[in-house]
Amino acid sequence: MTEPKTPPVAFDTLAVHAGYEPDPIHGAVMPPVVLSTTFAQPTPGQARSFEYSRSGNPTRAALEACLAALEGGRRGFAFASGCAAATTLLHTLAPGDHVVCGDDVYGGTYRIFERVMRPFGLDASFVDLRDKAALEAALRPNTRMVWLESPTNPMLRLADIRALCDVARTRRLPVVVDNTFASPVLQRPLDLGATVVLHSTTKYVNGHSDVVGGALVTSDDELAERIAFFQNAIGAVPSPMDCYLTLRGIRTLPVRMQRHSESATELAARLSRHKGVARVHYPGLATHPQHELCKRQMKSGGGMVTLELAGDLAGSRRFLERLRLFALAESLGGVESLAEHPALMTHASIPRENRLALGIGDSLVRLSIGLEHVDDLWKDLETGLEAL
Ligand SMILES: Cc1ncc(COP(=O)(O)O)c(C=O)c1O
Repeated sequence: MTEPKTPPVAFDTLAVHAGYEPDPIHGAVMPPVVLSTTFAQPTPGQARSFEYSRSGNPTRAALEACLAALEGGRRGFAFASGCAAATTLLHTLAPGDHVVCGDDVYGGTYRIFERVMRPFGLDASFVDLRDKAALEAALRPNTRMVWLESPTNPMLRLADIRALCDVARTRRLPVVVDNTFASPVLQRPLDLGATVVLHSTTKYVNGHSDVVGGALVTSDDELAERIAFFQNAIGAVPSPMDCYLTLRGIRTLPVRMQRHSESATELAARLSRHKGVARVHYPGLATHPQHELCKRQMKSGGGMVTLELAGDLAGSRRFLERLRLFALAESLGGVESLAEHPALMTHASIPRENRLALGIGDSLVRLSIGLEHVDDLWKDLETGLEAL
């Protein structure tokens, strides 16, 4: 699949065009969904472009080229979920290897390290990567990878990607950045020195809460070859239809991210003045302890807002049950607004004491700000806060 004819073009233009051009036979402006699982060969053992849809498929290739272009990488890989992307990437390591991972990563990522990979001999330390000295202190002779999220889920803490990559480079360690919360619209980790970008494309990248998917993007050719091998060998690949839908979602990603961010900034400010809210975590607010880093590293604060309500667990339940526009549901990054309780929902797989140490207590609520009118969202939140 091809790049637009006249690169380099602006990011917004790439989002609309990257990965596909009108096909030379019919001129179809949208990519075909190629459902064929297998591809005829002119002579035994000599494939045309594709041979079998687990190893490669035209619709998936269009999505993968687009993802690579958006993250500024050379190779993109699509997976059946963000967890599939993470697990496949970790299979490029070996038993006895060690990974330094941020301590505030998505609960499912923590679970992959602890319950899926650890039994196979992969060791991981979880440290607060807001502090690069913590990374330096956690490095061991057998450390083979650094893994971080920024902003983190759900506390919206930031890691200084460039500073951490500088530390990792002294040891030639690859740095994986889970860019799910920012999307490439707001932050491009490869430009800051990261080796691999990971996405749960389920979230902002697809953006319509109708596809579970994942992605990896890298410019490291050797690692890309290894990822390609494990992508095919493990086989946790997405369907052509899911690739098509994700690519369609991407076409509006810059416009959506702008609106998500504007509304989230406004709501975070209003919430921080409300007596029912003890604390607002939002990197786009001047009161966020890493706001200066946010301004340096991200285009804006993004569409996620995390709140500490001024109440107990029962109050959090009443707040969440009272919301009407915000659906009480896991996940994030869709056109519709969602609210959830990390301790009982997305982060329930993290042991309670670890959760509390991170700040994920009973009064913590995470909001994914959708594309509804900001005043309607505010009215809904106000109604919920009255129930506290
Ligand atoms: C930051 C982050 N990374 C990875 C994942 C895993 O992605 P998926 O649910 O698509 O497997 C999630 C899911 O919520 C996430 O929030």
